[in-house]
Amino acid sequence: TRHLLGLEGMTPDQIEPLLDLAESYALLNRSRKVPRDVLRGRTLINLFFEDSTRTRTSFELAGKRLGADVINMSVAQSSVNKGETLLDTAATLNAMRTDLLVVRHSQSGAPALLARKVEASVVNAGDGMHEHPTQALLDALTIRRHHDTLGGLKVAICGDVAHSRVARSNIHLLTTMGSSVRLVGPPTLVPGNLGQLGVDIHHSMEDGLRDVDVVMMLRLQRERMSSGLIPSAREYFRFFGLDRRRLDLAHKNALVMHPGPMNRGVEIDSSVADSDQSVIQEQVEMGVAVRMAVLDRLTRSRQTP
Ligand code: CP
Repeated sequence: TRHLLGLEGMTPDQIEPLLDLAESYALLNRSRKVPRDVLRGRTLINLFFEDSTRTRTSFELAGKRLGADVINMSVAQSSVNKGETLLDTAATLNAMRTDLLVVRHSQSGAPALLARKVEASVVNAGDGMHEHPTQALLDALTIRRHHDTLGGLKVAICGDVAHSRVARSNIHLLTTMGSSVRLVGPPTLVPGNLGQLGVDIHHSMEDGLRDVDVVMMLRLQRERMSSGLIPSAREYFRFFGLDRRRLDLAHKNALVMHPGPMNRGVEIDSSVADSDQSVIQEQVEMGVAVRMAVLDRLTRSRQTP
């Protein structure tokens, strides 16, 4: 398809080749032998209405490594601040013959809305509490590098699932690929209705982490909570923080993952975030490779009549 808006409804036949291509880009990145002509003559605009370190930078690197002209639009200094609507901003960028529009927005569905209005290929770089597809793809690639296959793995996604687009995209991808997914957290952040997504729900870390192959931690998304409902960092860490004692309930050598940004001492202790079991930096590295694969695929699909 022309856009990447989410992973819901994608099939293993669509996901697997994308991960294979990303793996080949990961190897080319390491050997610094990336072909520079894949996106030559193409223009990519990063349009981020919410903060980002990893996603924005890695889309920029991915585009540049493949030869695209990349522009980071700073919304803070744009005409959005003069009252221009999202659709008018997108129409303006489209008129400049943009090929790829990478969008992060606080409203779920904003990238899908733009995709209906512009000729550019739209990539969802995180929309509200909906999806963050390239994050789940890079998580899957990282896991696959350690386990060969995602089928049959037990994965615990822990913490603020309710507000997490990362969790939602990971649930779609991992269940589609045959992993067994557990959500772990307090009932306020892991409500029972999430069970409809084909996952198990646990409200205690001690139950949820037992025998899992992968522990994926999530940040408390305070910016999406009303102020009276924000848990105190100390209480949260006491009951739902990942420390060595809790990690030892998982399989020996279970992978520790976090999409970032981490809040050390809130959802994760430094002793595990920086341990041999942590693949958090590898996730960042795979982020560039996955975004290269996505940009490559979308550009080729536009060339095919
Ligand atoms: N994981 C992630 O989306 O990080 P950023 O907010 O830094 O892009």
